[in-house]
Amino acid sequence: MKPRIILAGGSGFIGQSLSPFLVSKNYEVVVLTRDKSDHHGSIREAHWDGKTLGEWTQFVNGARGLVNLTGRSINTRHTPEHRREIVDSRVDSVRILGEAIPRCVQPPKVFVQLAGVGIYGDKGERICDETTAPGDDFVSEVCKKWEAAFDSVDSPNTRKVLLRLGVVLGRTGGFLHVLSRLTRWFLGGQIGNGRQYISWIHIADLSRMILQAIDQEQLTGVFNATAPNPVTNAELMHELRHALHRPWSPPVPEFAARTGSWLMGTEASLALVSQRCVPKRFLEKNFEFEFPNLREALANIYPNQ
Ligand SMILES: NC(=O)c1ccc[n+]([C@@H]2O[C@H](COP(=O)([O-])OP(=O)(O)OC[C@H]3O[C@@H](n4cnc5c(N)ncnc54)[C@H](OP(=O)(O)O)[C@@H]3O)[C@@H](O)[C@H]2O)c1
Repeated sequence: MKPRIILAGGSGFIGQSLSPFLVSKNYEVVVLTRDKSDHHGSIREAHWDGKTLGEWTQFVNGARGLVNLTGRSINTRHTPEHRREIVDSRVDSVRILGEAIPRCVQPPKVFVQLAGVGIYGDKGERICDETTAPGDDFVSEVCKKWEAAFDSVDSPNTRKVLLRLGVVLGRTGGFLHVLSRLTRWFLGGQIGNGRQYISWIHIADLSRMILQAIDQEQLTGVFNATAPNPVTNAELMHELRHALHRPWSPPVPEFAARTGSWLMGTEASLALVSQRCVPKRFLEKNFEFEFPNLREALANIYPNQ
């Protein structure tokens, strides 16, 4: 029998790439989703609501690993209602998975929790590794609550790994999906003063990091899951224009970014905050990046453009 991995919230952007990757590594994958329709292709799904125990717990019992990708997207307007959903979807899912584990006769060997480098807040040019203090903006507060919930999970027989993700780059979703559309419309100029740092990771390297977190028993605790070479917003937009053959676009001053974000139903702060993170602990573990540099990462994502 193939070892089983549970992907809670695995129906989204990262999960859709991670599931086939884990299947290719000979794992069975079960996705926990709120969707009740019986479909979907080759990946098995089980229903949950992300906050209460249910029949889904049978799949956790005996699983090799549990990976939690659940969370209402922060790429939205931060109204009081959305803020509540952003926090609750994260904290509730961690809590209920933490309650499911001790009920298992055979608990999973590892619990991998995805989180974000947003915990560091706006740090300007300062380099952030896993020991850097958290910030105090809304996203930092979300991340602190999210990580505190994971810290509270008491699972003596289940190893715990928390990955603080940078902006995940892939063709089918996330940040790049929006930026690439803008860039194709010649709206891919630097945002604000362009000096804010973006910590990014190619989705293929992230999948390999998650696999290592599952497979390597010496991995435990908090890891920055970012490429070793963060870039400024100006560099990111320059490289994106290069990849999409748009030689020039007018810069987007801060006020225009604020108006544009409002029109797009999101928050400009997500594009203006600066996080210059390094994956210190993965580098110490000799993790080999397939895409350490942005140009190669974008060339892979947008071949033959
Ligand atoms: N993508 C990035 O660049 C990035 C960066 C940093 C951190 N992260 C974190 O990594 C995780 C996965 O990211 P992703 O890009 O794959 O996200 P995604 O595409 O938005 O998928 C997240 C999944 O969470 C579930 N979900 C959404 N709202 C929920 C709610 N209110 N209650 C319960 N479940 C809910 C959904 O599954 P169902 O609808 O099937 O239930 C959804 O498919 C998220 O926690 C995200 O915050 C992502």
